[in-house]
Amino acid sequence: LVVCCGGVAVAGWVVARGGTDTVGKVDFVRPLAVPPLATSRTDERGRRVFDLLARDGRRDFRGDGRLTRTAGFNGDFLGPTLRAKRGEEVVVNVVNRLTEETNVHWHGMHLPARMDGGPHQLVRPGATWSPTWRVDQPAATLWYHPHPHGRTEEHVYRGLAGMFILDDDREAALPLPRRYGVDDIPVIVQDRSFSRSGQFRKTRNMISSIGVLGDTLLVNGTVAPYLDVRTERVRLRLLNGSTARTYDFGFADDRAFALIATDGGLLDRTARLHRVRLSPGERAEIVVDVRPGERTTLRSFPPDLGADALSRRFAGGVDRFDVLQLRAASTLADAPPVPDALVPPDRLDPAAAATTRSFVLSGRTINDRSMDMGRIDAAVTRGSTEIWEVVNRDGTPHNFHVHDVQFQVLSVDGGAPPPELSGWKDTIFLPPHRPVRLIMQFTDHSDPDMPYMFHCHLLWHEDAGMMGQFVVVEPGQRPGRPPAGGHAG
Ligand code: C2O
Ligand code: CU
Repeated sequence: LVVCCGGVAVAGWVVARGGTDTVGKVDFVRPLAVPPLATSRTDERGRRVFDLLARDGRRDFRGDGRLTRTAGFNGDFLGPTLRAKRGEEVVVNVVNRLTEETNVHWHGMHLPARMDGGPHQLVRPGATWSPTWRVDQPAATLWYHPHPHGRTEEHVYRGLAGMFILDDDREAALPLPRRYGVDDIPVIVQDRSFSRSGQFRKTRNMISSIGVLGDTLLVNGTVAPYLDVRTERVRLRLLNGSTARTYDFGFADDRAFALIATDGGLLDRTARLHRVRLSPGERAEIVVDVRPGERTTLRSFPPDLGADALSRRFAGGVDRFDVLQLRAASTLADAPPVPDALVPPDRLDPAAAATTRSFVLSGRTINDRSMDMGRIDAAVTRGSTEIWEVVNRDGTPHNFHVHDVQFQVLSVDGGAPPPELSGWKDTIFLPPHRPVRLIMQFTDHSDPDMPYMFHCHLLWHEDAGMMGQFVVVEPGQRPGRPPAGGHAG
């Protein structure tokens, strides 16, 4: 395979170089689409029931009449926002109306492995899978997306993803903006490129080997979006729903914002920041102040990928994007200031950790092994606390996501984590050669035969094998064997 500058077709994917700067070039002509809140009903057992129907679609993203072939849940692109409260039992009827197998993983959710929607829970075309679980974790911005082994990148790229918001009493007691679509806004950021006929281009950057980097941003599926703001403060739930690209979000005028939550929920204390870096799969909730009548732009600055200059260039680490324009009304409704203290600190104790494991990410492997659906890579004991030390050994950008649990970051390259890594996380960027130490507790949901995944969330890497499996077992119990085939519906 020879890779060069013009673009080379490889098995349907086109290879090309990156390098994009849209600052000052975005016209912000479309109102930001806000995904609808999913409707739900209560069944006879008191469970909240949602329906998510995966289907093919078409959309004219740029208003030029060119229809892009897409996929979405209950619509043409992306899906509705699911919302449930801590303590509730939920059921999601996942209906597969695609012509191929897919499934849905609840990214960030603490739930039994059989309900997790990993590669072992495939849903055949025409079939329905109805996972059910009790929500038992703090208020947070989670998300959902397919996870069929080897095809996750393709399915997410076509548009299969959505947000899953969890609520709880603690969050509800704080003076924070929380009117969905009014002052509490989902911001799902994805990059795409379009072919001449308007199709999503699968332009993989082979030189950096990180995957698809697009030159056009979609926010909730909207190209060049603006948001009308009518309150003094607005909460943005940022989700990097891209398959490969890392962003460094901030504002065009460099104003500070309040970071209140990360992947797994609220921070102990509000962090006043100017930038927040999000690699694929990560979330951040920020609250930004606006002044009457002003316009300000959410921007992505070139992220610090920690890589050398050449790999930074080819990994999109030099790219800048105008993401979303905020248009403040001439009179704004009052909003209380964001409190400094959010939730009581709840730190896992390294002294309580029974086991330390080490994970080395390099090439398309973790600990020199490529994903094998039939192999259990780690068995953790229910109730135990573990430290996972994870390092990016090959120097290209990677991140690390663990299913079922939220972890805390003990250190990054031996130093204390910055504020944006001080709370609950399920996905973390791995700066090359600098180990991160994570601590997590496997409280319940043991099942020796059904694994959870851990993997790089750059989806091409994941699909190519940079993934492993762990099971949660009872004390003294041995891991079993994952079932062959792996259909749940
Ligand atoms: Cu967002 Cu294993 O996935
Ligand atoms: Cu990776």
